[in-house]
Amino acid sequence: MWVLASYPDGMPVESNWRLEQSEIESPGDRQILARALYLSVDPYMRGRISAKRGYAKGVEIGDVMIGGGVAEVVESRHPKWNAGDLIETFGFGWQEYSILDPETVTRVDPNIGPPHAWLSYIGMPGITAWCALNNIGKPVEGDTVLISAASGAVGQVAGQLAKVAGCRAVAVASTDTKLDWCRNLGYDIGVNYRSASDLTKEIAKACPDGIDIFFDNTAGPIHDAAMQNLALGARVIICGTISLADKFEAPDIGERFLRQILVNRAQVSGFLVFDHLSHYDTARRELADLANNGKLQFKTDFMDGIESMPAAFLKLLHSENMGKQLVRTEFAKGLRE
Ligand SMILES: NC(=O)c1ccc[n+]([C@@H]2O[C@H](COP(=O)([O-])OP(=O)(O)OC[C@H]3O[C@@H](n4cnc5c(N)ncnc54)[C@H](OP(=O)(O)O)[C@@H]3O)[C@@H](O)[C@H]2O)c1
Repeated sequence: MWVLASYPDGMPVESNWRLEQSEIESPGDRQILARALYLSVDPYMRGRISAKRGYAKGVEIGDVMIGGGVAEVVESRHPKWNAGDLIETFGFGWQEYSILDPETVTRVDPNIGPPHAWLSYIGMPGITAWCALNNIGKPVEGDTVLISAASGAVGQVAGQLAKVAGCRAVAVASTDTKLDWCRNLGYDIGVNYRSASDLTKEIAKACPDGIDIFFDNTAGPIHDAAMQNLALGARVIICGTISLADKFEAPDIGERFLRQILVNRAQVSGFLVFDHLSHYDTARRELADLANNGKLQFKTDFMDGIESMPAAFLKLLHSENMGKQLVRTEFAKGLRE
């Protein structure tokens, strides 16, 4: 198991965690013991290892690092669960075995999607894309939707859902390879934020009628450039702030866009997927239908072995992942991917 060894000072590094061994314990009454098949790494984890207050409780030094996973039940002391059942939970932790209360897990039905997909396009990232776009963005046919971190776990799905809604989807990503993948997914055009000499102008070129929905996964300079290109009545979804990963503890000082917001009567909304629990089943069903009908593509970036957890997480913060980043354990051998 990986425990938090220290809070990062700026960008996290591998030595912020420590790999420890412990005995596998037995589940208590009405509990289950499960072993990990796939473990998720997600950008929100940066906020949970910050001494600064976030929207949820952080990890204490010496605690097992938090994280979601898909796992197989190996021992059950709960009448509704049997060895061999598959589960998905947000509370597995960076470890191979976990004792869980079944109230905190979702049953994985492999007929809906392969087990790993419950952490990606029919799991939290896909549901984030669905809820943020539909509930906050409210797309209208013909809208221009600009999406940052467009090739990532949330971005891949958001771009394809924007196309399903009849919108023009504009990708922002760090490399031409990622932008090529976005075009494969159906994005109309892409902007490379690293090679652009003037990002505001590049976005203006890609969005000649302005941005109706800005799906912001990053904050930082991409946010600043997009905010100068809003269309009348724009909806700005603040979904993620990953570009702040090396300065979480410092104030986020940048330009202000109050004139752009006022002139365009734009709505800027913070978004948290957990506020949309009542939409999870609908979102999952629609995403699974799209995928099973060949209308939703998805890339997953697998690393192998529990030892890879910090490295896999750091790949996200350094833009090195290609699609949803997961760690696969030896117990996942032979599963459909
Ligand atoms: N609010 C919610 O409920 C919720 C739920 C899920 C996810 N999120 C947020 O959504 C965002 C995407 O999450 P994800 O799981 O889909 O991750 P992801 O996009 O698969 O991976 C993270 C991506 O962030 C980009 N990135 C990293 N550092 C950056 C920087 N300094 N500037 C600009 N882009 C940077 C990289 O893409 P490039 O190669 O393009 O730079 C990287 O591939 C994150 O900010 C996450 O916190 C929010």
